[in-house]
Parts: sequence; C-alpha cells; structure tokens
Amino acid sequence: MGPIRSTLGCSFLLLIIGLVPQAAISVSESTCSQDQFRCGTGKCIPQRWVCDRENDCADGSDESIAQCRSTTCTPEQFACKSGEGECIPLSWMCDENEDCRDGSDEAQCNRTCRSDEFTCGNGRCIQNRFKCDQDDDCGDESDEKDCGDRPKCGPNSFTCASGTCISKEWVCDGENDCNTGEDERQNCTTSTSVCQTSEFQCSDMITCLHRSWVCDGEADCTDGEDESPENCPSISCRPDQFQCDDRSCIAGQLTCNGLFDCSDGSDEKNCHINRTPRDCNSTSEFDCGGGQCIPLSKVCDRRKDCPNGEDEPAGKCGINECSSNNGDCMHQCEDLAVGHRCVCHDGYKLAEDQRTCVDIDECETPGICSQVCVNEIGAFKCECEAGYMRLLRNHTRCKASEGHASLLLARRHDIRKIALDRPEMTSIVNSTKASTALDFVFRTGMIFWSDVSTKSIYKAPIDEGSEKTVVLTKSSVTSDGLAVDWIYNHVYYTDTEKCVIELTNFEGSMGKVLVQDSLDIPRSIALDPIDGWMYWSDWGASPRIERAGMDGSHRTAIISYDVKWPNGITLDLVQKRLYWVDGKLNSISSANYDGSQRRQVLYSSEYLKHPFSITTFEDYIYWTDWDKQTVFKANKFNGQEVQPVTAHMLEHPMVVHVYHPYRQPDGVNHCQSVNGHCSHLCLPAPRINERSPRISCACPTGLKLMPDGLMCVEDLEAKTGGNSTDTSDKVDKSAKKPDKDYGQIAIIVICGLTSTALAACVIFVVYRRCTRAVNSMNFENPVYHKTTEDHFRLEKNVTPHMYATAMEEEVSGSAPPMATNPNDFSYVRF
Ligand SMILES: *[C@@H]1O[C@H](CO)[C@@H](O)[C@H](O)[C@H]1NC(C)=O
Ligand SMILES: *[C@@H]1O[C@H](CO)[C@@H](O)[C@H](O)[C@H]1NC(C)=O
Ligand SMILES: *[C@@H]1O[C@H](CO)[C@@H](O)[C@H](O)[C@H]1NC(C)=O
Ligand SMILES: *[C@@H]1O[C@H](CO)[C@@H](O)[C@H](O)[C@H]1NC(C)=O
Ligand SMILES: *[C@@H]1O[C@H](CO)[C@@H](O)[C@H](O)[C@H]1NC(C)=O
Ligand SMILES: *[C@@H]1O[C@H](CO)[C@@H](O)[C@H](O)[C@H]1NC(C)=O
Repeated sequence: MGPIRSTLGCSFLLLIIGLVPQAAISVSESTCSQDQFRCGTGKCIPQRWVCDRENDCADGSDESIAQCRSTTCTPEQFACKSGEGECIPLSWMCDENEDCRDGSDEAQCNRTCRSDEFTCGNGRCIQNRFKCDQDDDCGDESDEKDCGDRPKCGPNSFTCASGTCISKEWVCDGENDCNTGEDERQNCTTSTSVCQTSEFQCSDMITCLHRSWVCDGEADCTDGEDESPENCPSISCRPDQFQCDDRSCIAGQLTCNGLFDCSDGSDEKNCHINRTPRDCNSTSEFDCGGGQCIPLSKVCDRRKDCPNGEDEPAGKCGINECSSNNGDCMHQCEDLAVGHRCVCHDGYKLAEDQRTCVDIDECETPGICSQVCVNEIGAFKCECEAGYMRLLRNHTRCKASEGHASLLLARRHDIRKIALDRPEMTSIVNSTKASTALDFVFRTGMIFWSDVSTKSIYKAPIDEGSEKTVVLTKSSVTSDGLAVDWIYNHVYYTDTEKCVIELTNFEGSMGKVLVQDSLDIPRSIALDPIDGWMYWSDWGASPRIERAGMDGSHRTAIISYDVKWPNGITLDLVQKRLYWVDGKLNSISSANYDGSQRRQVLYSSEYLKHPFSITTFEDYIYWTDWDKQTVFKANKFNGQEVQPVTAHMLEHPMVVHVYHPYRQPDGVNHCQSVNGHCSHLCLPAPRINERSPRISCACPTGLKLMPDGLMCVEDLEAKTGGNSTDTSDKVDKSAKKPDKDYGQIAIIVICGLTSTALAACVIFVVYRRCTRAVNSMNFENPVYHKTTEDHFRLEKNVTPHMYATAMEEEVSGSAPPMATNPNDFSYVRF
C-alpha cells in the first residue's frame, strides 16, 4: 500500500474511500480509535496488527524495534532460538513441521519410540503387535521383515493364506474376512454371495454393483473386473465421452486440457487440431490482429509487415506518448514502438479505460488466505480465527495453536488412530467384525462406531477401546453413516436397509426416525449442532446431498446435479463449507452450506478412483480410497500436494475423521435446563433467522407430540390404524415438508416418461434395497416400551412399501437428467 497522494482527482479519491474496508484504514488525519494504532504516516491500523511481523504502515512504524523488542514468549510458548523474539505455541514443537524460521522447534526432538512400540526403519513408531501382521504399517515394510516362521493361530482361529488369524466363527459367514477371501471357500454350505442375483459382485466380496454399471466404461470394482474384456466384449463410450486407448471412458471435455486423465495419457495425443490462436508475446512481438504476430523490430521500419499495415500507423511511429502527462496513465507509462500502454503497481489492475488502476480484490481468490482475508488498497492481509495462529514462515496460513490432531480410521477389523504431528499409529479398538462409520465426542473422549455385520452401534472410551458397550441392540441398524451431536448428546445415523435417518441418545434408550420420506440410499451424514443443521448424502436413483434441521424440519436438496456417488461428506466449520467425495465422478468438491459457490477441488482418476470418506482440518482434506487402500491428504482449496498419509493397507479403509478439539467447537446446549421443557427428546432447531426457536421437542417413535409442542403421549392413531407411516414423526408441525411437492412432481414426471423408462423404473424398484422388510422397532425405550407393544406387533406385519410409492420416491428430489436413467445406480454391501 503506497501513500495516497493528495494530488489525486476528487472522483478517484471517492472511489478509493468507497473501496476501503472500514476497519482497516482511515485516510483522514483524524485521531485513531481506541483499538487502533496510529502509523507514522497518520494511517490507523487495528492494534492487533502491531508487531505481527508484517509491514502494515507504509513507513514500517508498526514493526519498529522500539515497539516490538519487548515481546517475550509466554510459558505456553516456545521461544525460537534465533533470538528475534519469535514465539510459537508449545504444541507446534516437535510436530514434524519447522515453524520457527531457524527450524529450532524441530531440532532437538527425541524421536525414540516408547518401549512398547516398534521402531520402523523410517523412524515411525507402531504398536508392537502390528509387527509381522502382513500389513505394511511402517510404510517401508520394515515391520514385515525378519518375521521368521509365522506364529501358529490359536485353536479357535482360522489361518488365512497370508498368515493372518481370524476367529473361526467368521469362516463361511458370507463375508470375506481374509484378504483373499479363502475363509469363504471352505466348502461352505451356506450361500456365500453377498450380492443379490440381480447385482454384479466385485472380487473383493464387499462391493456390489448394479448391472447397469458393468461395462459402462468406468471401473467401479476395485480391481476393475466390471470393465474387463471377459465381461465386456465390446465396450463403447457415451457420445459425450472420450475412449482412452486402454478402453476406459473419460468425460469429453478432459481431452487436450494439458493433464493426463486417461491412465495411459492417450487423451492428450492428437491435440494440435483445435488449438486456439496463440497470443502474441507482448515483450518481443507485435500483434497485427487476427492472431498474427510479427517481431517488434519490424514495427515502424517504414515497411508494412502486417497484412493491413497496422505496424506502420501514420503519425504514431517514433513518438514517446509517455512524455506528455504520463500518457494519461495513472501509475506507470510504457512507451511502445506503436503507441504506449499503462502499467499498474503490484496489487492493482488496469480498469476498462486502460488508464486508471483499480485495486485487485485478492480476497476473491479462494484460498489466498487460510481463513480471514482483509482486502486493502493495493494489498491484502490474512488473519486467523480465534484459536489459530499464522505461520511465521507464511503469513497467509493458519494453524491451530493448541492440541494434537490425529486421524481416527475405521478399518473393518479394527479402529486405528494415526497421529498427524508425530510418526505414531495405534489401534484403539480391536477385533471389530466390520466397523464402518465412526465419530467421537472430544470433550468426554468417547468414540461411537457402527458395525454393518453385527448391525449395531457401539461406544467406547478412546483410551480403553476394549471396554466397548452396545448403544443400539444387535441386528437393528445397518449404518454406514454416523455423526455425533457433541452439544446435545445424540447420535444421528443413516440406515441403508430401512432407508431412514434416525437418532438415538448416547445410551440408546430413546430414539426417533427423523427422515424417512423420499430417501433412497442415504450414506454419509454430518452435523452442525451450533446452528442446528444436518447434512446427508443419498446415492440412489437421483443422487444428491440434502440438508434439514436437526429436528427434521426445513428439508431441502442443496446439491442435486453433477453428483453420482456421494460416498462421503464433511463440514468445514471454520469456513462454513461442505466437502464431498464422489466415487463415480472421481472428484472432491466443495460448496457453501446452502449449496452455492460450488467448486471442484480435485479430479483424479488415480487418487479418487473409489473414495469412501472425507474429513477436513486446517488447510487440508483427508480421504480414504478403496482402490489404493490408502488415506490421502491434499490442500483443501486447490487439491494440490496430494500425499498418502498411510501406506497401502490390507483392509479397506472406511470412515476417517480428524480427532481434534477444534472439530467440535463449544456451543450452548439450549436443552440443558429442564430438558428444554420437553417430556422426551429435545433437539436443536435450525437457525433460519435471529428469532427462530433454538430447540424443538420431539417424541420417540410410537409417541406423538401434544399440541403444546412439549409433551409426548401414546400415539393412538398409529396404534389402531393399519398404516405403517409413523404419524408421530411430524416434529415441527408448522414446518412445511417439501416432500409432498416432490411427490406431485414425481407423478407428473412419471406420466411423461417413455415406456422404456417406465420399464427401467420397475426393474429399479425391484432392486431397490429399501423395499426389504421394514421394522421400525429399534429402541428399548423404558418409557413407552410396555404400553406400545401392540403397536409394534402391528408394525412388524406391515408389508414393505408398495412399488408405486417407492417409485414416487425414486423420481422425487431434483436432478432432471438423472430421472431419465433411473436404474443408473449401485450400492455397496459389506
Ligand atoms: C530429550 O531427551 C533428553 C534426555 O533423555 C531430555 O533431557 C530432553 O528433555 C529431551 N528433549 C525433548 C524435547 O523431549
Ligand atoms: C472340499 O470338499 C472336497 C470334496 O469333499 C475336498 O476334497 C476338499 O479338500 C474340501 N476343501 C476344503 C477346503 O475343505
Ligand atoms: C517473450 O519473449 C521474451 C524475449 O524473447 C522471452 O524472454 C519471454 O520468455 C517470452 N515470454 C513468453 C510468455 O513467451
Ligand atoms: C504461502 O502459502 C501459499 C499457499 O500454500 C503459497 O501459495 C504461497 O506461495 C506461500 N507464500 C510463501 C511466502 O511461502
Ligand atoms: C488389542 O489386543 C492386544 C492383544 O492381541 C492387546 O495387547 C491390546 O491391549 C488390545 N488393545 C485394545 C485397545 O483392546
Ligand atoms: C391410512 O392412511 C390413509 C391416508 O393417509 C387413509 O386414507 C387410510 O384410511 C388409513 N388407513 C387406516 C387403516 O387408517
């Protein structure tokens, strides 16, 4: 930011004042306010910018030695050795990142593993029991060397070909528990296929695909056998796709974009045909127009070199336009052989008149600052939210100033914790059958996870994984999406078998179906309990991401196009953005909470072939990929710097979460006093505006809300009626349910469909997973258990959804393009 000259034209001065962020600068000579510092130049800057190692006053008076020498580090800080008064939070010491500019914070770290740990060749520390377990836990295979003879498995164990021991009970149970599946090839009498006959089963014995995804040009099985030549004698790509030499199909617009999108790079061959005419190099060439360039030396040489003689304009050759009135340029004038051009100082750009310079709003570039961006005239400044600090090395980046971040990773047979600031990996829960979704409560150190094989939800203290307790009883939930409300203490989960979104309290004693209409195959769920919103992805016939209040009200679809297999979603609570991975489009995207300002962060046919889950922290996104069987990380703004966090694993990495206090910021529990006057469930209501209610009362399945909106009574209607729909579900009677409109639109759409599409619809409905037995009794609720037995008996005998209703649900939602191809879906079973 240069000093603003008083000679500027009045109108321009007004323009500048209009652009100045009010908090940042005041141009006048008047006194600065209390929380401001007055520069030697008279400019006012916020007090917090003083001594922040960035020149904010043009004369440097905010960083003068007299001002800043006295800074001493607090006891919670480490003083960098360089002696320039640099302080960093203690938690940044020995975190494998050099934060001091002299690197002294990483210089004397004792990188020795504890006695109960194994030291890898690369210095990582892993638990002793990961040694010789066939899995490359170190990442350099040093833990799998010198293993000698494998120890015999115990008498109650089965030995896999790889040497891994699994429980005998897991043999012939229809699930691959050995990596190569030999536990299911032991002359098992029961049928071992996990997929239905109408589905295609991948060789990993986990993934089931709809048949329409076989030979569609995109490998959906991890090993790609759904696209193998044996299965697909002649494959052809859709008209909007390009066929790579390896016969795979990619989106047509990805050809000739300078990146290898086909694994063999064939999309970048033969690209010369449609090149746009190149721009002339303005430092060495003259632009004749029409894409023709001639060397600058040929301009004004009294010979016409351009087709129309533009290089020899009358009366313009040999004149320095800049000598008079700076060529009318605001900043700098550059004389050219023909005419001149204006150039602006750094941080400014030329306005349309090609003379005036206007400030560039750097803050419009996503990711230019980690968190808060303050645009100044000619410059910009980055700030961090409370609890974060700017890096000494790069003032645009923010880093959490306390806590140690780690990843929690469900891996089917165990749950692991991978430290992100030291080379350490530990197992926190042993011997799970098929742990899939997980979440945690940081405040109490409790983790919650779902097991799709035992169909239960469990919890355990993170340090005592063996002390697990069942939250929801056996065989009631098939959940591959689960999220904890850390403020109001509920677990929200998607159930792919019943096609509902439900919640339960931490004890599992009281719960409720929150969303059940127009759900197809719900998967991932994420919560923002401070503002009372929940977000979930649905990858059924019309794939989409939806949100609703955490009481089930105000439901809307926020992402409904260009989304096919939204396997994982997560919230960036700092930037207030939603991130999701798409397993069919091989991409990571982000959008604002309402779906606006959507951006693709990363497309990769290598790292995002089969992503399953995503999480975010600081400047990074972390995701699991089944194809590479690895956890990756990358920059969350531009997808650059992709790095593996783990080595290739034998188990499928399922849901991943960053474990850090800032992933669960504090908020007020408005239900805390007298349970919000609710007789049963008290749930956060979505923040629509300043006056919207903070909470709403809800009733467990089988009870209904009284007109006072607080008390629950037995639902007599549901008891006497034969209808399976749960009338007690209308938590917020005033809230408009958009589903009805969907239904009507759906009927209209169906009427308009061609007969082939209708046939496809029927086939699809038959395959539909949710049409299997519906039984909504999940909770052993002591409050109402006895009085509603009849009701449950009735419900159990209810036939599954009629096809007609199911069909209405299919086409509902949004995404018109998808509705024309309703059988284009698949799902994974575990
Ligand atoms: C490293 O180990 C030495 C001796 O064991 C100890 O005095 C020192 O404090 C340790 N340093 C750190 C950073 O832990
Ligand atoms: C399966 O049965 C066949 C014939 O009874 C037998 O030869 C074979 O060894 C058995 N395989 C296993 C793995 O038990
Ligand atoms: C333009 O030409 C100059 C001099 O030949 C060269 O140094 C520069 O790299 C060129 N710039 C571009 C963008 O090609
Ligand atoms: C700071 O980080 C950003 C984003 O990673 C990068 O673009 C920029 O070049 C860095 N600046 C410095 C001075 O290293
Ligand atoms: C996991 O099992 C091993 C023995 O196989 C035991 O030493 C370890 O403490 C267990 N860990 C947990 C978290 O239960
Ligand atoms: C079921 O619900 C429908 C519409 O909501 C209603 O017309 C019908 O009478 C109900 N059936 C019974 C047995 O209550």
